[in-house]
Amino acid sequence: MIQASISPARLAQWLFGVAALVFAIVVVGGITRLTESGLSITEWKPISGALPPLSDAAWADAFARYQQIPEYQQINKGLGMGLAEFKFIFFWEWTHRLLGRVIGLALVLPWAWLALRRRLPQGYTLRIFALAALVGLQGALGWWMVASGLEVRTDVSHFRLAAHLLTALLVFSGLIWTALDLRALAHDPAAQPVRMTGFGWGVAAVLALQLLFGAYTAGLNAGQVAATWPSMNGHFVPEGINWSGGTANAFLNDPFLIHFVHRWWAWVVVAMLVLLARKIRQTHRRASIAIHSAFGTQIILGIATVWTGVALWLAVLHQAVGALVVASTMWGLWARKYETGKLIPVTNAPLFLDLSRIRCKRPAIGAAPWGGSFSFWAIKREFGP
Ligand code: HEM
Repeated sequence: MIQASISPARLAQWLFGVAALVFAIVVVGGITRLTESGLSITEWKPISGALPPLSDAAWADAFARYQQIPEYQQINKGLGMGLAEFKFIFFWEWTHRLLGRVIGLALVLPWAWLALRRRLPQGYTLRIFALAALVGLQGALGWWMVASGLEVRTDVSHFRLAAHLLTALLVFSGLIWTALDLRALAHDPAAQPVRMTGFGWGVAAVLALQLLFGAYTAGLNAGQVAATWPSMNGHFVPEGINWSGGTANAFLNDPFLIHFVHRWWAWVVVAMLVLLARKIRQTHRRASIAIHSAFGTQIILGIATVWTGVALWLAVLHQAVGALVVASTMWGLWARKYETGKLIPVTNAPLFLDLSRIRCKRPAIGAAPWGGSFSFWAIKREFGP
């Protein structure tokens, strides 16, 4: 006998939970990169690699493998890296990979169980499977990225780093979107999955370009070529861009140009997000405030990251809030198109998106620490006299 579909509200909670795990892995990934830990595990063993070295001999073996690669030979050997330092960088890469395994299992096991019993609502079996397949692809992309730093280079390819980061954010977006669809289905059994509009694709493309250049900036250590803002070392357009390989080559590889594009394209992102937030502020006020808060904080963190010469904790926060910009944008794009079920009760809003829970008599001031000055301005315009 075929059992009834499981409650969509519970499925939504499950997918929001997996999205929270993806958020965590993005943060750990940022720490892994910024502590230069990413190349510490030189092999890919999806199953047995779940356990760290458990004996002194196993640690010695892992360290000996690491000592073969250029990063150790050309950098860390000279810095006198010993086993204790190696264990530190190993810890971050291992935690990152372990979280990847946990995410895969957290998605695949419940999916398989529910799919076999045909307890998923119509249309969701394939959709959630596609998300799980993307997680698998992400694991392979991660190894492809690491492999680029094991033989000749002392770091990974910034193109592969970008592919890895953007795929993570794509999975994150897909999970949130699907969870929102399921939550709508829980409120209205006739609710259809929401599709992106042309405007939505436009916003997503503008944001994706910013994320791409952010990943290039990170992968090329381009944040460090100028510790000043708004000028770059005293010039609006930085000196030192190498155009000799052609324009396309400069946009793909030159750290000065890539940093320049990332810091100024951010304002195109802001303009698009303000537009999106304005469109939904009547019906989905909380999503609108979350968008303002996320991008406002992100701009401030970006500038602070530059000013501090890429301080580790600021760069990690910048990566984390980058993911929240993506989450709030997805929420906003979804909400804009969601027409059947009217308003979603705000109490059900995912907590980590719901920065607007901070209340005070003057919203502009209450939001300022979160959203920064731009958000201050935008929120004041919305609620002010
Ligand atoms: C909506 C606006 C923005 C978004 C969504 C965004 C997103 C990102 C992302 C995803 C990364 C890669 C993180 C990583 O792999 O560690 C990044 C890196 C970076 N971003 Fe942004 N960013 C924004 C605005 C800005 C602004 C305005 C600045 C500076 C004025 C800035 C400066 C940087 C720097 C210096 C890095 C490299 C940090 C590192 O080496 O870890 N960003 N950004």
